[in-house]
Amino acid sequence: MNTAVMCTGSGTNLQALLDAEDGGTRGARIVLVISNRPKAFALERAKNSGREAIVHRMRDFKSEDEYADDLLSVLRDRGIELICLAGYLKRLPAKVVAEYRGRILNIHPGPLPRFGGQGMFGRHVHESVIASGVHESGPTVFFVDEEYDTGAIIAFAPVPVQADDTPDTLAHRVLAAEHLLYPRVVAAVANGQVRLQDGKCVGRLND
Ligand code: GRF
Repeated sequence: MNTAVMCTGSGTNLQALLDAEDGGTRGARIVLVISNRPKAFALERAKNSGREAIVHRMRDFKSEDEYADDLLSVLRDRGIELICLAGYLKRLPAKVVAEYRGRILNIHPGPLPRFGGQGMFGRHVHESVIASGVHESGPTVFFVDEEYDTGAIIAFAPVPVQADDTPDTLAHRVLAAEHLLYPRVVAAVANGQVRLQDGKCVGRLND
């Protein structure tokens, strides 16, 4: 599947997806990286591996509608079939979600739905997990819908929360698990092993 990865920041998950592809993961071929931040290091990573990298932001359009239409035409022009959000800190327009339903994935650095929702990103997630006293965290990959972090869950990778964890130490451990989980899920969706059906995730990942 022709795949676009959308990032706002450093793009370590993008790198994990690129590395998995170079290592022979079949199914998803990353042909485009989109960022809403011109200085995102993710754009450098994309260029370094010879992929098209573009900046696309709402502020460059007169209305949200124009922005959504342009994003859709960028995706259609490249024949994009699968979109992977990887640290993309902007909600996708409803039009894009509707056109790509079941073909947009996101990774969240904590258990969902408990530690998700608007404003729950990055450090906030890990602070909240530690404050709650739970002993387990870990990344969750899900199909994107119109809301924040509410789409059907595809996979969760448990990561222990240690008694002396700070948000930084926990973030580090969870991020390492993200880099293993996301390429597996992307491959499973691209190969049709896992799909969205009637709002639910069907199929399962290989062990
Ligand atoms: C990750 O923790 C991911 O779960 C979240 O944003 C972060 C992106 O990190 N959605 P990176 O840019 O891939 O390093």
